[in-house]
Amino acid sequence: MISNSTTPVTLKSLNSFKLDSVCPAIYFIRKESDLRPFFGWAEDSFYVLGEGSNVLMLPQISKPILKIEIKGIEIIHDVEDEIILRIGAGENWHQLVLWTLEKAFFGLENLSLIPGTVGAAPIQNIGAYGAELQECFVRCECIHIPDGKQISINKKGANFGYRDSIFKHELKGKIVITHVHLKLSRKPNLKLEYGEIPQILTNKGIQNPSPMDVSQTVIEIRNNKLPDPNILGNAGSFFKNPVIDQNQYLKLKSNYPNLPAFQLEENQVKIPAAWLIQESGWKAHRKGDAGTHEKQALVLVNYGRATGHELIALADDIRASVFQKFAILLENEVQIWT
Ligand code: EPU
Repeated sequence: MISNSTTPVTLKSLNSFKLDSVCPAIYFIRKESDLRPFFGWAEDSFYVLGEGSNVLMLPQISKPILKIEIKGIEIIHDVEDEIILRIGAGENWHQLVLWTLEKAFFGLENLSLIPGTVGAAPIQNIGAYGAELQECFVRCECIHIPDGKQISINKKGANFGYRDSIFKHELKGKIVITHVHLKLSRKPNLKLEYGEIPQILTNKGIQNPSPMDVSQTVIEIRNNKLPDPNILGNAGSFFKNPVIDQNQYLKLKSNYPNLPAFQLEENQVKIPAAWLIQESGWKAHRKGDAGTHEKQALVLVNYGRATGHELIALADDIRASVFQKFAILLENEVQIWT
């Protein structure tokens, strides 16, 4: 375990891409008051790290890091079917999901096995298999580092979108999330439609699934498709799924009849970036130690000694060739730290 350090620190074990990167200093925040020495720091003068599962780090990071390790799960409201939890931002997301299932508090089952911490979850409004964090989010407690003030951001204030929130925009580089409040239910309200979920449940002969069955199914699908970062460095989906308008979609569909798409409201269509990348010839690509995953073209992987620069170069090449073929510009889902 590395302790607070003001000499350059290697971050290889602190990012899921397993990139060899150094930063000028790292401070471990285990309780809210550990943030006091940093009050008054200018905005954008530091990075906030959870478990490093959605960042791509360049070899030399210019800013010090605050690594959030605030733990604890409290039940702060328990009335009839409704539960509200207050969770330390440094808790591991999947351990929280398992804890809620053990207690028979439901709502997080489709979000099983998402890597990272609870404090990172609202930043990109984590989502998977038909569910998104915003559905159970109540509020989060934050510290505004430049003036040391405590602020509370509720669901409306968080301005959630697809892999998006106020934390990626107006509040970026200014705050640390210390606790997250989530509303769960004792009554299951299962989401069973997404992707392979119904098929797997049928194959198992499960007709009336429990939330635990749904969680186990999601775990199975993720384990089958997504590389385990402990074996192969990666940060999950590297790009967001692009949203295009109906006209552009219809034009593309006439050229590519197999183009998969998910209809959103207001004439908008979401296209799987994985399909665009695969059709552009990048599935299971590898150059040096940087590549795309064989089962999921959307996931960039570090086969061992890739650098942040090599992975960014690969992402840029993928983006350029998808743009050339489909006139769709892929946006990063992963944050780049320089
Ligand atoms: N597809 C391909 N080729 C592939 C993989 C998928 O063509 O190599 C197509 C298929 O048509 C499939 C569609 O893409 O039906 C969607 O694939 P999938 O359900 O696997 O989901 P995704 O859009 O690739 C998103 C999230 C994942 C999340 C899954 C499941 C984003 C950027 N990614 O991926 O989240 O686990 O849905 O809900 O929205 C993450 O954010 O790191 C992440 C892994």
